[in-house]
Amino acid sequence: MALSTYLKQQRNRHLGELKDLLSIPSVSTDPQRASDVKRASKWVSDRLTRAGCTRVKIHPTKRHPIVYGEWLGAPGRPTILVYGHYDVQPVDPLNLWKTDPFTPTVRDGKLFARGASDDKGQVIVHVNALEAHLANGGCPVNVKFLIEGEEEIGSPNLDGFIAKNKKLLACDAVVVSDTAMFAKGRPSICYGLRGLAYVEIKVTGTDRDLHSGTFGGAVVNPANALVKLLDSLKDNKGRIKIKGFYDNVVRLTSAERKTFAKLPHSDARFKKSIGAPALQGEGGYTTLERIWGRPTLDINGIWSGFTGEGAKTVIPAVAHAKVSMRLVPHQTPAEVEKKLARHLKAVAPKSVKVEVESLHGGDAWLASTGHPAMQAASRAMERAFGRKAVFVREGGSIPVVATLDEILGVPCVLMGIGLQDDNLHAPNEKIDLDQFYGGIEAAAYLMEELGAAGDGSKKKKKAKGKRRR
Ligand code: BES
Ligand code: MN
Ligand code: MN
Repeated sequence: MALSTYLKQQRNRHLGELKDLLSIPSVSTDPQRASDVKRASKWVSDRLTRAGCTRVKIHPTKRHPIVYGEWLGAPGRPTILVYGHYDVQPVDPLNLWKTDPFTPTVRDGKLFARGASDDKGQVIVHVNALEAHLANGGCPVNVKFLIEGEEEIGSPNLDGFIAKNKKLLACDAVVVSDTAMFAKGRPSICYGLRGLAYVEIKVTGTDRDLHSGTFGGAVVNPANALVKLLDSLKDNKGRIKIKGFYDNVVRLTSAERKTFAKLPHSDARFKKSIGAPALQGEGGYTTLERIWGRPTLDINGIWSGFTGEGAKTVIPAVAHAKVSMRLVPHQTPAEVEKKLARHLKAVAPKSVKVEVESLHGGDAWLASTGHPAMQAASRAMERAFGRKAVFVREGGSIPVVATLDEILGVPCVLMGIGLQDDNLHAPNEKIDLDQFYGGIEAAAYLMEELGAAGDGSKKKKKAKGKRRR
């Protein structure tokens, strides 16, 4: 039977299974959900076994387990390592969900649930693809799966696992589906991700809250001080004013800027799609350049003093902010965090204490698009989605991609099948069912394309698979 016919017949089962996995609230950041995260790891490992994988194992870590499985029935053929994550983001604000986040519901050709697109739906695509090949005469490549449960908390235990298990994970290419396509009907392959440095800033004034009448005017207010400090980080043109922040930034090449400019992006449409009155960003760069190729600094959360209903006259003792910086090659989280802390301490008034705590981070990643594995993925996406794939970068971060690239020394192929409006990390996350079913086809075709390249792709690996530096 033709693979695509087989896959069409399996659609209901594939949907039902995805709903099963999505029903498990595997919120990695929530200690209350630890047993659910564990349950999801068990679900994934059982699913790998059922799909035909061997050596399936749940590897415990200090926090949430890593699931591994493999099918190595194609000796002499290339081996791919599929990476993904089965953990999800928290669901709040819950009241904005139209249906319960863990009661997967189909509306209008879309499946709504937390994790539908990020990343459970996109992981399962590859499992279904392997299984489909095995049911139709065998898989043209060897496949390994590395599915973690801590991506949404910064993968604290994954780098260590990879370093210790280089042999287990050895492969010819890494395949990841955890990003979005450029647009519906516009398949894309991603060759760059931004890095991330995430910190919490704490500004302390007095040793307790004070009556703002009795003391106001005579003491420093840490909330006022924090606002000033944060304001000092950027100028009116959107440039980050931290000394040395741009030192290691790899500039966009003019060829790349030309390629971005040719993509069918419209600022007007983009603006409308997010309900923004106007767009804003670093001067001298287009929207795609700002998102894909330039670093940022943003307040992600800010709190201090009285935020309840009504008024309370108080000078708070402390003020907090969560600040994230998106990074580009070759900035590193450690380096920019140090520069940020130095800036804040230099600018802060003597009357407050400033502390900067690092929460998590990861390196940016940028690859060459010329590798045969990238080209194979491009053909696979074109076959599945009926249109030539474009090469794009992404503003988001998947820290482990840089690690896998570095430690395993193989090309990483980012074949995301999500859409820009999937509401990742937000209420009403969904996966478009056309994308899910098309994604399974694309994953299956990628295995064919890489299998057809056979040993040839192995030889070319060394020459072209290097990260651009
Ligand atoms: N899948 C996302 C990353 C992503 C989304 C990349 C959309 C490109 C487009 C991933 O699960 C994620 O949310 N990453 C976090 C970083 C992580 C360390 C918490 C992010 O980008 O904020
Ligand atoms: Mn993800
Ligand atoms: Mn995510």
